Amino acid sequence: MRADGFETLAIHAGQEPDPVTGAVVPPIYQVSTYKQDGVGGLRGAGLHGSVEGYDYSRSANPTRGALEDCLAALEGGARALAFASGMAAEDCLLRTVCRPGDHVLIPVDAYGGTYRLHDKVLRSWGVSYAPVPMSEPQSVRSALAARPARVIWVETPTNPLLSLADIGALADIAHESGAMLVVDNTFASPYLQQPLALGADAVVHSTTKYIGGHSDVVGGALVVRDSDLGERLAFVQNATGGAAGPFDAWLTLRGVKTLGVRMDRHCQNALRVADMLAAHPSVAQVFYPGLASHPGHEVAAKQMRSFGKMVSFRHRGGEAEAVAFCGRTRLFTLGESLGGVESLIEHPARMTHASATGSALEVPADLVRLSVGIETGDDLLEDLRSAFG
Ligand SMILES: Cc1ncc(COP(=O)(O)O)c(C=O)c1O
Repeated sequence: MRADGFETLAIHAGQEPDPVTGAVVPPIYQVSTYKQDGVGGLRGAGLHGSVEGYDYSRSANPTRGALEDCLAALEGGARALAFASGMAAEDCLLRTVCRPGDHVLIPVDAYGGTYRLHDKVLRSWGVSYAPVPMSEPQSVRSALAARPARVIWVETPTNPLLSLADIGALADIAHESGAMLVVDNTFASPYLQQPLALGADAVVHSTTKYIGGHSDVVGGALVVRDSDLGERLAFVQNATGGAAGPFDAWLTLRGVKTLGVRMDRHCQNALRVADMLAAHPSVAQVFYPGLASHPGHEVAAKQMRSFGKMVSFRHRGGEAEAVAFCGRTRLFTLGESLGGVESLIEHPARMTHASATGSALEVPADLVRLSVGIETGDDLLEDLRSAFG
């Protein structure tokens, strides 16, 4: 039988009608504890992969389980785990696989929070890191030759400079050296890119972004190809307690159902915005992998279904004009985050990436980042044109 397609999985995987009531949508099991039929007699064994049944919602909860089963299906993994935030997912993964003395390679333009976790938290527990341009496989090889790493951490496309890393090539390099390849797939989503199929060992998501898609919930996820690693992660998730709550899991699951159709429209709008910016006299440089002039265009075309909704550009007027521009749009709302149906605008150097100031990961001060929503494309173009004045 033909395997179900992406949109079918997004709507049905992990979301069988409720076994008790037949409810078509997984209910919000807003509950902390569960009645036992005699000591240790747990109910719900087998529901959403819970082997033993349910005893306490930090360990397992049916609404969270439904989301986890859906995410595992969408990324083609053996196991998924849902967290209270993307950072909680990152922390769980790194504390599961790294020990004091281990080394991690991170992208030179990593998300600011990922950099902060390494620099300000994990480093003091003896896990070191080095920023490497992940778009240059040779630089990754040289960094590994200088010092072996436990983990190669890749974002592709990156936030906010949208550089591309070749996942298949980096998976080979990682595995030759005994390292694990982790891909933060937040900026692509499983609809556009499936890192496990390309050779990665683990996928990280801020589900706050495309997967949730409506700017109404913060969450994170890990998806792995190996069920033993999945077990170890589940142990640490339970031990440290960063799991997603039932209502957050339910909102995320509601969002993910429309991921495919939302992404198609996001990508269409983003390409129009990138084309308009590329031709605008006030723009010095546009970063969008869908433009043939983008250095990562070929890699993106090879490993992504389409090019995403994030577009960054450098304002010819410098930092002051970039900051002023962010305050002049009508539909692009000035705010952090991305991935929702509504368009957002921000100044990374002063907002999302302020923690990287003065480091190798500092972003240009004249950079503006756009999260292009699914509003009417003509309205978005007009909004940006009039903000240039
Ligand atoms: C690429 C990327 N990874 C991880 C995170 C962290 O996710 P969260 O904010 O859900 O903790 C973010 C947040 O912006 C992000 O952009």
